[in-house]
Amino acid sequence: MEALVCREIGDPTVRMSDSTPLVLSSSHPVPELSSPTAVRVRVWATSLNYANYLQILGKYQEKSPLPFIPGSDYSGVVESVGESVSRFRVGDKVCSFAAIGSFAELIVADEKDLERFMVPDGCDLVAAGALPVAFGTSHVALVHRAQLKAGQVLLVLGAAGGVGLSAVQIGKVCGAVVIAVARGSEKVKLLQSMGVDQVVDLTEGNVTENVKQFLKSRRLKGVDVLYDPVGGKLTKESMKLLNWGAKILVIGFASGEVPVIPANIALVKNWTVHGLYWGSHKVHQPEILEDSLSELLSWLSMGLITVHISHSFSLSQANVAFAAIKERKAIGKIMIVLRDSSGRSRL
Ligand SMILES: NC(=O)c1ccc[n+]([C@@H]2O[C@H](COP(=O)([O-])OP(=O)(O)OC[C@H]3O[C@@H](n4cnc5c(N)ncnc54)[C@H](OP(=O)(O)O)[C@@H]3O)[C@@H](O)[C@H]2O)c1
Repeated sequence: MEALVCREIGDPTVRMSDSTPLVLSSSHPVPELSSPTAVRVRVWATSLNYANYLQILGKYQEKSPLPFIPGSDYSGVVESVGESVSRFRVGDKVCSFAAIGSFAELIVADEKDLERFMVPDGCDLVAAGALPVAFGTSHVALVHRAQLKAGQVLLVLGAAGGVGLSAVQIGKVCGAVVIAVARGSEKVKLLQSMGVDQVVDLTEGNVTENVKQFLKSRRLKGVDVLYDPVGGKLTKESMKLLNWGAKILVIGFASGEVPVIPANIALVKNWTVHGLYWGSHKVHQPEILEDSLSELLSWLSMGLITVHISHSFSLSQANVAFAAIKERKAIGKIMIVLRDSSGRSRL
């Protein structure tokens, strides 16, 4: 089968050859049905997350032994099943996630890990492949951790990126007043078209002043929930906007700088800081991930959320896809799509 293989740690944006960190293998062994309850899925689409980029650079918190096939969330069609599989048949449409392995034509999962992730009829398979990591992270963060309520003020940093745009939409579904921070007119226009209450364009000045004026105009006291996948100086500025009792969701550090949240101010202002590592829920609280993804699939099929895909590439263009992530070109999701709408291979 065709698969992208990370053979050594390095830059995934360089043009692929036999000696680059990332290589395209056209004769990779097909993963075996490793147990009677294993299900092999023909990957339809798989999403490119910032974490995949960090992983190949060797900068991600979890290291995989080399060589490995990168890629975590995906959608696809069941290709074959183990002898004891009772809940899936060949041809069923599913989406799911794995620690590694989805940048390939075929991936194997256990039946119990797919059980709740059947893709409903009418749901776009490419969109379903974009759901688990980005929307899953924002859903667990906003709905389970912060318990975001209608009327509360949500401030989303990196709001036009993969996790950011999902947080904006989930915030709207929850009925929050959503303030989005992004860079550049294209990102701003998209956020405005999604009904965001206030968009701050970082190319046009200061977040604090802009948000303060907006809050004043709406007679709102401050921000109740900060969703932060960026870190660095943006976090520092955003802390000036937080209400008494605010919740800070620490999602990631796309800026490359881990922010400092002063404990003395957290004490005085009764803030709660939530570190959130979505993937680790699979080990510690799998039911939360399952409930969350199953709710997101139903929201997607009802049209409550949409997946905005700014770029879609084939496996052989993976280095260009990684370059788009590196250069901050992603607006919503970047996808690697392996099948066309009629199911034919795009390899
Ligand atoms: N905690 C978890 O479980 C979890 C799950 C998924 C992702 N994450 C983390 O969340 C972060 C964002 O992931 P993503 O997939 O949404 O990435 P993405 O699509 O590339 O979005 C990142 C956003 O961050 C902003 N940004 C600010 N400074 C940046 C810089 N120096 N380089 C790149 N982007 C910068 C960009 O917005 P502007 O250009 O508009 O400023 C960009 O839209 C990453 O750190 C990722 O590891 C964490």
